[in-house]
Amino acid sequence: MKQLFRTRTFSHDDLRDSGLKRCLSAFDLSLLGIGAIIGTGIFVLTGIAAATQAGPAVILSFAVAGMACAFAALSYSELAGSLGGCGSAYGYSYSAFGELIAWIIGWNLLMEYGMSVAAVANGWSGYFINALQALGLELPAALTAAPSKGGLVNLPAMAIVIALTVLLAIGVRESVRINAAMVFVKLLTIIIFLVVSVGAVNPDNWTPFMPFGWFDRAADGHTSGVLAGAAMVFFAYIGFDAVTTAAEEARDPQRDLPVGILSSLAICTVFYMAVAAVLTGVVPYTDLNVSSPVAHALLEIGHRWASGLVAAGVIAGLITVMLVCFYGLTRIIFAMARDGLLPPFFGLIQDRTRTPVTTIVLTGIVIAFFAGFVPLGELAEMVNIGTLFAFTMVCIGVIVLRHTRPELVRPFKAPWHPLIPLAGALSCGALMSFLPAVTWWRFLSWLGIGVVVYFIYGYRKSKLAPGIA
Ligand code: ALA
Repeated sequence: MKQLFRTRTFSHDDLRDSGLKRCLSAFDLSLLGIGAIIGTGIFVLTGIAAATQAGPAVILSFAVAGMACAFAALSYSELAGSLGGCGSAYGYSYSAFGELIAWIIGWNLLMEYGMSVAAVANGWSGYFINALQALGLELPAALTAAPSKGGLVNLPAMAIVIALTVLLAIGVRESVRINAAMVFVKLLTIIIFLVVSVGAVNPDNWTPFMPFGWFDRAADGHTSGVLAGAAMVFFAYIGFDAVTTAAEEARDPQRDLPVGILSSLAICTVFYMAVAAVLTGVVPYTDLNVSSPVAHALLEIGHRWASGLVAAGVIAGLITVMLVCFYGLTRIIFAMARDGLLPPFFGLIQDRTRTPVTTIVLTGIVIAFFAGFVPLGELAEMVNIGTLFAFTMVCIGVIVLRHTRPELVRPFKAPWHPLIPLAGALSCGALMSFLPAVTWWRFLSWLGIGVVVYFIYGYRKSKLAPGIA
């Protein structure tokens, strides 16, 4: 029994020995964060959440989700600063809770990051298909949607995942440079939208403000209201935690990680509130359940050129989101393989590119499959439940570690301990409870499979298992 809770204490020698290049500064990390955060959530899910769950009060949904993230971000920063990363929430729980829980979190992160890439690929595909249509190029309908949405396969979503697999395999430095350029494009895209449409805001569109109330759960398990909207648009905030997965490539993880996480989250929150307010102000919320709501709203108010420009910006910008989530996924797998919980070939780094090529290619194939065959809503809900679970555990981990390892050097401490981590755990847990029943069943099934895999493989092969060096 004790073996299930064996803990791994990270030292910074672990980081030095990883074999990955140390090339990222605090500024690079902030860009990595913004690159991961602003994406399908704001550009697509805002419309879906406004039309089907929250109405114009989706602005409040963003505020609620943003607050939960702020608490979690402060907790993340404490652990990222003191433990240096080592695979994000997975590495932290290895120290705080021991191996079994760490494995469950890591297993859950694999699903979360993998499904994020597939979900964002779906959002990207919506804007891409619309752009093709605007140019008079029509893809056969069967190749533009998943089977449950009346198509055969979402081919553009699959294709973009394969292209990114190649990019990541080439090497992190190249990917990060592209990321910086795309972050600029994405912020510019949002600014163009805000500047062009703010004059067209009609306050009548904000009435009724809260047509679905705060929260309701239908007999079929479907949820609606501002809080259900918050559990949906929470997706838009995911990504700041990806910064921590780059700790092994950061120049000074102790100082740079908290700065990277908090600054990227703050910048994105400001932009989200503004976009949600303007989007629901320029068109009635009932018109927003479309695959490219921001471009659609601009068309509705007669700005054809701006609509095209925004679509182009989104198409370019969402690439960074996928890149960062994909990057995070490969690094978590790398950390788990290094600890012996996954087979060693997942931890192999190719000499020439100094990236884990095998892992990148294998995960790319799996993600491409989900991107092609599962629709956006279902992917996003799976990502959200997994992420909220990980955030909750990180917050609890802060409290546990303050007790069990008081001597740990903490360059950044979450203020008002234990209020902030407690508020984070409670608010993330509450958001989980606003998700539909079917999402819960899928999530619990995935965790069940994970526990079986652990006892078949990781329990015996872990670097911490008796008899293993
Ligand atoms: N936050 C990221 C997005 O909205 C995952 O696309």
